[in-house]
Amino acid sequence: MAGKATAVAPANIAFIKYWGVRTLDPLTPANPSISMTLRRCQTRTTVEHRQDRGPDEVLLRTEDGRLSPPPESFVEPVRRHVERIRSAAGCGGSFRVATENSFPAAAGLASSASGFTALSLAATRALGLALAPGELSRLACRSGSGSAARSALGGFVEWPAGEGDEELHAIELAPAEHWELRDVIALVDVGTKPVASVEGHRLARTSPYFQTRLGRLGARLGAVRQAIARRSLDDLGPVLEEEAIDLHLIAMSSRPPIFYWRPATLEVLDEVRRLRNGGLSAWATMDAGPNVHVICAPDAATRVAQRLADLPGVMSVIHDGVGQGPRVVSEHLF
Ligand code: PMV
Repeated sequence: MAGKATAVAPANIAFIKYWGVRTLDPLTPANPSISMTLRRCQTRTTVEHRQDRGPDEVLLRTEDGRLSPPPESFVEPVRRHVERIRSAAGCGGSFRVATENSFPAAAGLASSASGFTALSLAATRALGLALAPGELSRLACRSGSGSAARSALGGFVEWPAGEGDEELHAIELAPAEHWELRDVIALVDVGTKPVASVEGHRLARTSPYFQTRLGRLGARLGAVRQAIARRSLDDLGPVLEEEAIDLHLIAMSSRPPIFYWRPATLEVLDEVRRLRNGGLSAWATMDAGPNVHVICAPDAATRVAQRLADLPGVMSVIHDGVGQGPRVVSEHLF
């Protein structure tokens, strides 16, 4: 069997964070997480399956617009994931993979989530397989990127943390059309983050605050599910901000500590508080990186974006919103 397929998959921003694991292999998260799938931050990946058993080839679109071989740190997890897919499908041959992001990769913008979801969908389609969203979710997070489990679905998504041995997949809490939320992303640093999130997950339990946060999560999960169901930003906002601060508190107090924030991260957090003091419902969250996602209603997004763009430490601003799940497309990258 030989085939070629291209998939586009969305990034997501977590309201309740996945941070810490019960087991790394297979990947089981320490806690359930909830996110909003994004519309503009996406990865497009083309996979071609060839009959010859040469080495798998991996290419990444670089800033100059060319498809070039990326660093080994990028290639290695991709090779491992396509090998997993090849052996699960029981086939030989080799893969040619090319990928591009619509946003800066490895800057805490969930490029691994959209990347492994796009790769999983394109590779399985290239092999002639059609996975249901739950199966795609389960496959995508076997890459080692837990947040990829949530990028397999659109709208508002929960990745449960089952207690048994069952393999986990994400579920839809509400479709994208349910609630027109916006995510204004302030980019303050798009360099590669100092510590990969997998290391953060491994170290999370060394923080004295790890268990404290887990103890609070039941109430937070309930509050976020209910805020989504009722479309109440004023109920969602305080919980998502608390969650983001707790993630970074745990990272900063892990042994050894991990600092993802940059000085400009604090500038943005201050500005969001000032916007709120001025009567705007805007709420900040960060993943494992320095950039800040500001969640707000559509009619507040332009004002939020202007205020953030004016801050000296902000390089640029991405206007994003709730998006659909991944899809197969016909425009290939090669
Ligand atoms: O999917 P990973 O292993 O890159 O972990 C991502 C963890 C956070 O982005 C910090 C939180 C989350 O739930 O997305």
